Amino acid sequence: MSLSKFLKQLDELEAEASKALKSVLDSEQLETVRIRFLGAKNGLLKEVQKLLAVVGAEDKPAAGKRLNEVKQTIQELFTSAKSLLDSNPKEEPSSTYDPTLPGVPLKLGHLHPVTQTIEHLKEIMGRMGFSSAEGPEVEDPWHNFVALNIPEDHPARDPLDNFYLATAERTATIEGTRLLRSQTSTVQIRVMEQAKPPIRVISLGRVYRPDAPDATHFPMFHQMEGLLVDKDVTMANLKTVLRIFANNYLGGDVEIRFRPSFFPFTEPSVEVDFLWNSQWIEFGGAGMVDPAVLSAVGYNPEEYTGFAFGLGVERLCMRRHGITDIRDLFSGDIRFLSQF
Ligand code: FA5
Repeated sequence: MSLSKFLKQLDELEAEASKALKSVLDSEQLETVRIRFLGAKNGLLKEVQKLLAVVGAEDKPAAGKRLNEVKQTIQELFTSAKSLLDSNPKEEPSSTYDPTLPGVPLKLGHLHPVTQTIEHLKEIMGRMGFSSAEGPEVEDPWHNFVALNIPEDHPARDPLDNFYLATAERTATIEGTRLLRSQTSTVQIRVMEQAKPPIRVISLGRVYRPDAPDATHFPMFHQMEGLLVDKDVTMANLKTVLRIFANNYLGGDVEIRFRPSFFPFTEPSVEVDFLWNSQWIEFGGAGMVDPAVLSAVGYNPEEYTGFAFGLGVERLCMRRHGITDIRDLFSGDIRFLSQF
């Protein structure tokens, strides 16, 4: 056999072995490739080696040298393929894994029912031209009491009925006193201090009272405050706005009833009841803004009149969704909350 033919066979063998060793995926395949090329009995390298006998005597040194080179290359490729597999063993596919099965659906969260209610109320009142205003939850006595016509000796300021904060200044001055607001009526004052009539705003937010929790009371709850100040505003306007609101939120033709009441910041004052499913239910308080409040914020009570109302957001949410206990809303129980 000519030298060139022998060398060509060696080149082909080297290329084929190299390709096979680089594509093995597991130790079983590696062993098969090893036997095929390096096998002691019928390995391809052994087969080519046998041909050395028929190469001419003068070409034997060159042929033998190249044969050793190829043998060493294949051996090295085998060693590196083996160490690669040993350091990074392929995971055995599990017999129980079926990639065609549908995945486990992810649970999607949603807004808390009270937050949904707040968005809904804003949307209904927005359609009647009321924009939304906000105020701080930590308030000073001016906005929570004084400007709302609640004098210093009024029982509504009693520490037993409010969450006063333990500030260092509190003991020294009334100006330093701070409390968690007990009603959203504070925002009425903040809005009127900033703007001139006509005013048409609502404010939705948290309020705090040390009420013992029961089915209809919670120490933290939300109110929707409404305020409209303009020329010639009357109780009839108040009743119309609240009736349209109730019809939109509770649906159908909700009847509305005013019962005489007292709030220091409205005169006259009323409790607001809605007739729904043949039942009268109290949702909040309302009235015509007291002239003393208009004066406190620098409005001329001879020129402007206004109405204000404050409704319990949880009570509205509960009525609409048939929730019977306010405590469920704040339990954090996902099984309950995910129904809404
Ligand atoms: C007020 O808070 C007045 N600021 C409302 C108002 C505004 C009157 C503007 C006039 C003009 P009242 O204390 O009644 O009013 O509370 C209003 C509503 O808040 C109640 O009718 C009820 O729906 C809700 N509410 C009161 N206390 C709680 C409580 N502890 N838990 C849940 N909701 C409550």
